[in-house]
Amino acid sequence: MKKIVIIGASGHAKVIIDIIEKRNEYQIIGLIDSYKEPSQKIMGYPILGKESLIPELMEKQNVIGGIMAIGDNWSRKKVRDVIKNLAPKFKFLPAIHPNAILCNNLKIEPGVVIMAGVIVNAASTIKEFCILNTNSSLGHDSVMHHFSSLAPSSAIGGHVSIGAFSAVSMGTTIIQNITIGIHTIIGAGSLVLKDIGNNIIAYGVPVKEIKKREIGEPYLAK
Ligand SMILES: CC(C)(COP(=O)(O)OP(=O)(O)OC[C@H]1O[C@@H](n2cnc3c(N)ncnc32)[C@H](O)[C@@H]1OP(=O)(O)O)[C@@H](O)C(=O)NCCC(=O)NCCS
Repeated sequence: MKKIVIIGASGHAKVIIDIIEKRNEYQIIGLIDSYKEPSQKIMGYPILGKESLIPELMEKQNVIGGIMAIGDNWSRKKVRDVIKNLAPKFKFLPAIHPNAILCNNLKIEPGVVIMAGVIVNAASTIKEFCILNTNSSLGHDSVMHHFSSLAPSSAIGGHVSIGAFSAVSMGTTIIQNITIGIHTIIGAGSLVLKDIGNNIIAYGVPVKEIKKREIGEPYLAK
C-alpha cells in the first residue's frame, strides 16, 4: 500500500483517519503537526513532526502524499501553501467516506474531504480542499469554491454558490439559488433566504448580516 501522512492532529484528523482505515487504500505512517509534541499518538499513529519533515519522509520513506486534516479554512490554505513550496511533488489526496452518496456527474477537485452521511446531488462542483462534514448535503448544480466548508447537518439547496474560504456552520439551511461570498461565515443553525456578501459573519433565522470579519479570523476555536 502507498504510504501517506495526515496533515493536522486535531479531532478533525481523527475522523479522517477513520475514513482512510475504512477505505484501506493507503498506509498512514503518521501525522504532521507544527503545534503538538512529536511522539504523541493519535488513534495509534505517531505525530512525526512539522511540515519541514515532509521532503525527507518522501525521499527516505517513500511517502507519496497525504490528506489535509485542518478544519479551519484559512489555516488549511496556509499550510497547503507551505507544503506545496517545500515539496512540489507531494500529492494532496481526497478522503471520501464509503458511506457518502455522490451523484455520477460531479466535478470533485484534489484535496477534498467528504465525511459519512454526506449527499452531493447531480451536476455539482466541489473545488480544491473543501470539506463536507458529517450528514451535510449539497443540492444539484451547486458550487463550493476552493477551501470552503459545510459543517455537520447543513443542508444546501440547488444552484447555490459557496464562496472560497467561506464556512457554513452546523445545522444551517440555505435555500436554492443563493450566493454566499468569499471569507464569509454563516453561523450555526441559520436559515439563509438571501445572498450574503464577502467577509461577513451572518446568522439567525432568517439570517442577518451581523458584522464584518477579517480574512483568517478564527471561527471554530472556543
Ligand atoms: C458564527 C459564530 C462564529 C459566531 O461566533 P462569535 O462571533 O464568537 O459569537 P459569540 O459566541 O461571541 O456570541 C455573540 C452573540 O451572538 C449570539 N450568537 C452567536 N452565534 C449565533 C448563531 N449561530 N445563531 C444565533 N445567535 C448566535 C450569541 O448567543 C451571543 O448573544 P448574546 O450577546 O445575546 O449572548 C458561531 O456562532 C458559529 O456558528 N461557529 C461555528 C460552529 C460550527 O459550525 N462548528 C463546526 C464544527 S465541525
